[in-house]
Amino acid sequence: MALARRVFLRASRSQWLARQLKERAFLRRAARRFLPGEDLGAALAEAANLGRAGLGSVLTQLGEQVTSHAEADAVRDHYLDVLGQIRARSLDAEISVKLTHLGLEAHEEACFHRLRALVDRAAALGGFVWVDMEESRYVDATLRLYRRARAERATVGVCLQAYLRRTPDDLDSLLRLAPAIRLVKGAYSESPAIAFPRKAEVDRQYAALAGRLLHQVPHGARAVFGTHDLRLIRRLEVAAAERGVPPNGYEIHMLYGIRPEDQRALAARGRKVRVLISYGTAWFAWYMRRLAERPANLWFVLRSLV
Ligand code: FDA
Repeated sequence: MALARRVFLRASRSQWLARQLKERAFLRRAARRFLPGEDLGAALAEAANLGRAGLGSVLTQLGEQVTSHAEADAVRDHYLDVLGQIRARSLDAEISVKLTHLGLEAHEEACFHRLRALVDRAAALGGFVWVDMEESRYVDATLRLYRRARAERATVGVCLQAYLRRTPDDLDSLLRLAPAIRLVKGAYSESPAIAFPRKAEVDRQYAALAGRLLHQVPHGARAVFGTHDLRLIRRLEVAAAERGVPPNGYEIHMLYGIRPEDQRALAARGRKVRVLISYGTAWFAWYMRRLAERPANLWFVLRSLV
């Protein structure tokens, strides 16, 4: 793993650094490139803007590793409200949650009940809930809760990370459920025993997994490719055509602030595109992961410093 990536991923886990840097105006200015604001109102307004340009969105409140039941309940209640607001404003928006934000570490069963409340509300309101994938130590529990939620409702999808060596097996076992899967490369620091360390290997596994996922689209799978990698997207377009999957039979999801012109260009070409909009005050760890993905983003930090 490149040194810069390692440094940023290590920084993302430091509470001390978060406390030191989060209130610094230059870092807040730099982070604003990737989030329209800290409050839900800013995210909803941006979802409406994107909707006018033909793009859907996915809303996520930043936060992870919540260990108090009261705090996790508050996160659930926040998202219940978000689902209501999406419906009230007729937005083409879904939500995405991290299970550790919903208290996975404190109590798996309580976390499942919070997830189920969201998935049930989404079913009642015509919404949809995505479950993010976090560090590898949470994968088993995340897939366990996803399977339980999916057995009850179709309004839930899960993210899989192509960098994990185990993901081909996970994908195969999920495909029987006619699942909704958002395939990403993977954003955390993992050992080479667990995740491919080289980008070329990750890209190769991503393409192979994407092919298997596309194959299941006619059998009810929802295939979402969470990537900004345009070369890969072109390969996926070819792979989809070869398998007889029409251009609107799969989706491309990107992060707010990354390749916005390409997001619009893909939508203009008839691709289904959603933009994942993050908001909230707990942005430090998440922003460090964005720097790790592309250390050149450090220039934006330095520019906002001067
Ligand atoms: P790659 O890293 O190869 O980048 C391709 C190109 O995209 C780069 O050359 C650059 O131009 C641009 N780019 C990528 N990242 C950038 C950045 N930070 N800043 C500026 N430009 C950038 N991960 C995870 O582990 N669990 C999850 O639940 C999710 N969820 C998720 C949802 C969605 C909708 C997306 C798009 C991504 C995630 N991720 C994630 C993050 C994912 O794992 C991955 O780290 C990033 O998407 C970067 O990988 P790319 O596929 O974009 O390719």
